[in-house]
Amino acid sequence: MKNLVVLISGRGSNLRSIAEACSAERWPARIAAVISHRPDALGLAYARERGIAAQVIDHRAHPAREAFDDALAAALDRHAPDHIVLAGFMRILGDAFVQRFAGRMINIHPSLLPAFTGLHTHRRALEAGCTVAGATVHFVTPALDHGPIVAQAVVPVVAGDTEQTLAARVLEAEHVLYPRALRWWIEDRLAVDGLRVTQLDGEPQLIVRKDSPRC
Ligand code: GRF
Repeated sequence: MKNLVVLISGRGSNLRSIAEACSAERWPARIAAVISHRPDALGLAYARERGIAAQVIDHRAHPAREAFDDALAAALDRHAPDHIVLAGFMRILGDAFVQRFAGRMINIHPSLLPAFTGLHTHRRALEAGCTVAGATVHFVTPALDHGPIVAQAVVPVVAGDTEQTLAARVLEAEHVLYPRALRWWIEDRLAVDGLRVTQLDGEPQLIVRKDSPRC
């Protein structure tokens, strides 16, 4: 049984999709804890409802990045996580922290990496005139949003899309993509060679949703 710790900052809808898949599909894993750097993160309440330990490491109590990273690292160590799952976690982690947990962290980013690293991905995709958008699950390395790509989901951009409508379409795809990719990792069904990740059973690492009349 693998121990997962999920890091969140807010709503926690990806946490929910992971927790539900983990129990419904009987993954060989358990969510040992959910940690947020924001006390008001809605996902904390969801974790508590499910009986999952929920903890806050408030970034405002640790204004220096290293101090916050140290507090988070100490909290993580207490749960002995095999996998650290960043699910809408909006803090940048320092290099020392990332090195310390190297090979144990995975993230979902709401763009088709390597396009649109960082913030405001949907607004930037619309401004750039993209016809597709999506999400990427990737391993975490010190270079922000540049770790090896495990899987991607593509959705269409449709006429009249706003940042909000596009974000909602991408989020729906995230809820399919993240549990699937995470399960592969937990079950040792991935091989990593540099930046290239292979799904060892040949399952598709690309999800394409063609649910738009324009596709
Ligand atoms: C998701 O779009 C995720 O990709 C991004 O932030 C959002 C978090 O949503 N990093 P939630 O908290 O999982 O609902």
